[in-house]
Amino acid sequence: MRRMLVAGNWKMHGALHQNSELLKRIAAEASGLLCEIAVCPPYPYLAQAQSLIEGSPLVLGAQSVSEHSSGAFTGEVAASMLAEFGCRYVLVGHSERRALYGETDAVVAVKFEAAQNAGLVPVLCVGETLSERESGETGAVVARQLSAVLGRLGVVAMRSAVVAYEPVWAIGTGVTASPAQAQEVHAAIRAQVAVLDSGIAAGLRILYGGSVKPQNAKELFGQSDIDGGLIGGAALVADDFLTICQAAN
Ligand code: PGA
Repeated sequence: MRRMLVAGNWKMHGALHQNSELLKRIAAEASGLLCEIAVCPPYPYLAQAQSLIEGSPLVLGAQSVSEHSSGAFTGEVAASMLAEFGCRYVLVGHSERRALYGETDAVVAVKFEAAQNAGLVPVLCVGETLSERESGETGAVVARQLSAVLGRLGVVAMRSAVVAYEPVWAIGTGVTASPAQAQEVHAAIRAQVAVLDSGIAAGLRILYGGSVKPQNAKELFGQSDIDGGLIGGAALVADDFLTICQAAN
């Protein structure tokens, strides 16, 4: 049985006062829920979030990580540092990192490895652009993104990892993949892992991300291969995020 996971990706949003209100609300109401709930604030707020969620069922994640373990890499943050601030999860390969910061499949695979080496659970984000979908390349693109990690680390790496399918055309656009469209890709991801190890595939959590809202969460989460969500915009509004978490319950 895979435990549902709802993770809030705050992106570059937040401020001390605002974070405090949001996290206090979510932490207070999360106790009764069966799904796992993670919040991924920007780096400078990890310590604040760590102390605010202490004693609650919420867990912490980061939005990115360096592929290096330490050294002269100005502006970068190592996985061991994220672990020190209580992170359990870290996103790797979010489409904004791929598109805006040039992260290639190969770099994403090294980041994935760096995260696991520090004891973090990487959340590997994959997904196609609109033009890739329109030209029928969705399956190939997602398979290539997943293969970069499988090829480098082997299928055992998926034992302690999460995959997030996030069609780029659905991120922040208000257009979501239909439950059937998402389910099809999720099933393909699981099948790709199952070819290598069916047990690991059966236990792998695959989240959907891209304009998940209170109105569509239940139907998406009801699909057999969708094990929760990676939530952007709606993770910044306590009521919306909590309603989405309830839908995963
Ligand atoms: P969105 O973002 O929910 O605002 O579409 C999702 C994401 O980018 O993780």
